[in-house]
Amino acid sequence: MSKLEDIVSLCKRRGFIFPGSDVYGGMAGTWDFGPLGVTLKKKIMDAWWEFFVESRDDMYGVDAAIIMNPRTWVASGHVATFADPLVECKECKSRFRADKIADGITESVTTEEFLATHTKCPVCGKENWGPIRKFNMMFSTHVGAVLPEDTAENKELAEKSIAYLRPETAQGIFTNYKNVVDTIYPNLPFGIAQQGKAFRNEISPRDFILRDRECSQMEIEYFVAPNTWEENFEKMRELQHEFLEKIIGLPANHLHEYDVPAEDRAHYSKRTTDFMFDYPNGAEELMGLAYRTDFDLSNIARESGKSMDYRDKVTGEVFIPHVIEPSIGVERLFLAVLSTAYSEDEVNGEKRIVLKLAENLAPYRFCVSPLLKNKPELVEKAKTVYDQIRKKYGNVTWDDSGNIGKRYRKQDEIGTPKCVVIDFDTLEDDTVTVRDRDTTEQTRIKIADL
Ligand code: GAP
Repeated sequence: MSKLEDIVSLCKRRGFIFPGSDVYGGMAGTWDFGPLGVTLKKKIMDAWWEFFVESRDDMYGVDAAIIMNPRTWVASGHVATFADPLVECKECKSRFRADKIADGITESVTTEEFLATHTKCPVCGKENWGPIRKFNMMFSTHVGAVLPEDTAENKELAEKSIAYLRPETAQGIFTNYKNVVDTIYPNLPFGIAQQGKAFRNEISPRDFILRDRECSQMEIEYFVAPNTWEENFEKMRELQHEFLEKIIGLPANHLHEYDVPAEDRAHYSKRTTDFMFDYPNGAEELMGLAYRTDFDLSNIARESGKSMDYRDKVTGEVFIPHVIEPSIGVERLFLAVLSTAYSEDEVNGEKRIVLKLAENLAPYRFCVSPLLKNKPELVEKAKTVYDQIRKKYGNVTWDDSGNIGKRYRKQDEIGTPKCVVIDFDTLEDDTVTVRDRDTTEQTRIKIADL
């Protein structure tokens, strides 16, 4: 098994992540977070919010609607350009993203360029391709009552009622820029942050939670004076490293920056640096840092007829701010955290799987258990200790299943840093055994010192 398969298996076995709609055989590109996964995910998102919003004076949060006025996606350019190159095998009818199955080509590949790569179909092995077609990745839906499209009038009404599930959270920020300026009066530079779901009808979802049809993004639009974009881009780049390495604990040598060439950049970007992470199956984009210029605000001004101008409080100068955007997918960060933490070693001659999660991210910080569950005096004492630690730290779990060795293995697999065990000595001297997940060392500690 590859390390990724081991992680997928651990996630299902221990309740981190299940395939979406598992009971019906799944739904490609969707995943459900289980009890432990949702806790870890929330801790990652909270760490981001704390670092980029709550601990700063220049950042403000919003939580915008997922379904937005469709004009949003016309102004943003997503209706016209948010498309992947789709290619179909004429033999077996399988469909692929051309740039993902052929080497050395980009998203802007033409049919001739693709055919020249002589790529074989990954499913049937033949080389008989249809033309490259651009496939818009936005999910569409209808707002309001949906009538059968059996008359010309109904068809027209249906077309008018089309709305999209947002493909990026960013537009919920841009469309609220004016509201924030008019209510908070922030000084430039300032940022607006948002966390939430984004939807993309990916042609080939793959690599577990790395490429999903429904994902969660954490994005900031950082508004700056046009002539200061380069210095702010650099500051934002450093901040991303600080967050990923110091707060989340990703190893610096697994992170690589990649300056995206013009032909591969999104339509709105004049400069993009992708942060690539060494995942178990190879390096993939973890997040992007883009200079979006005044592209979005200018387009919104044009489409809505409303001014997006900012008046500088010191100089009185009036202009549309430019934007630096760090954008990260929660699932990709989640997988980076898991692949960093996942390790295997040997304890007492037996293979052990251990998630070496940082204390601030581990779903449970402590596990409390009585040595034997059929001894009421031990259980009662353990409950007292459990309540005491829970009051202090919140996320504590109770485990009295199986023998103590099995409990340790289970807690190692879910990444609980410390196991606290109550035994007969506890009843005598009020001390407990504290067992460390990473070293497996056991120390005797007074309950009062826990
Ligand atoms: N607002 C800018 C934007 O959306 P992007 O590069 O398309 O830019 C930003 O997406 C980040 O969102 C990516 O770096 C990745 O972390 C995450 N992301 C995008 N598409 C994803 C998908 N299909 N599955 C999981 N994460 C995705």
